[in-house]
Amino acid sequence: MITLTSPWQAYAAQTPHKDDGPHSPPARFEWGTHRWTGPGNDAFGRDLCRRTVLELGCGAGHNAAYLADQAGAHVTAVDMIDLQIRRARSYYEHISRLTLFTCEAMRFLRYGTDVYDAVYSVFGAVGLIDPAILLPAIHARLNRHRPLVFSVPHPARSAHRRASDLPQTTFLTFPDGTRRALPRWELDLSKWSTVLARSGFRLSQSWELHNPAKPAVPTTLLINARRL
Ligand SMILES: C[S@@+](CC[C@H](N)C(=O)[O-])C[C@H]1O[C@@H](n2cnc3c(N)ncnc32)[C@H](O)[C@@H]1O
Repeated sequence: MITLTSPWQAYAAQTPHKDDGPHSPPARFEWGTHRWTGPGNDAFGRDLCRRTVLELGCGAGHNAAYLADQAGAHVTAVDMIDLQIRRARSYYEHISRLTLFTCEAMRFLRYGTDVYDAVYSVFGAVGLIDPAILLPAIHARLNRHRPLVFSVPHPARSAHRRASDLPQTTFLTFPDGTRRALPRWELDLSKWSTVLARSGFRLSQSWELHNPAKPAVPTTLLINARRL
């Protein structure tokens, strides 16, 4: 399988994991690199209770578990790496409103038929797939006037980065210190606004999240866009 050669497979394999049975979901929804920073699930701008929500690139499923258990949403969460989904199931399978699938995001969007009340990504598929392809596919699976919310590494997180429409080579650093190249779309807010508008979304709100110890440099760009 092509995903076995993806840097995300090595990332999953190296991420520390305790095979210790069911976990309680986290106490808060996290969008950034530092806990207890950012708006939590208020970033959706609406109550998600009994709403259907899709996560693209859920990793071990912590945020999806939070939304299903604490916010009362019916959450479908996908990740293309089977190891991540097996891990998410071992932690959170007991949560009744949570469904986890191993599936690449574009494949899930193109071949499924359900339409959702919210779609989100936390350093997941948004930013890792060409927005000109991904955003129209999300648009087709999101109800009108409902939010797409996503966080991406902030394009100004290091001095030598430049926002660009073209994919940039970034590096994924693993726990053992090795790195693998990873193409990423590094758009600034104005460029996101433009590509969102081209695909039938209006940018509604944005946030810059920071490392509290280095508040001068933003780490994360968080965007709420409404499907028109
Ligand atoms: C940095 S991790 C974030 C995981 C999770 N959202 C979190 O905040 O803990 C990125 C995840 O996106 C997944 N991913 C990357 N590209 C994807 C794609 N095209 N389709 C589905 N999942 C993808 C990776 O396997 C990885 O688990």
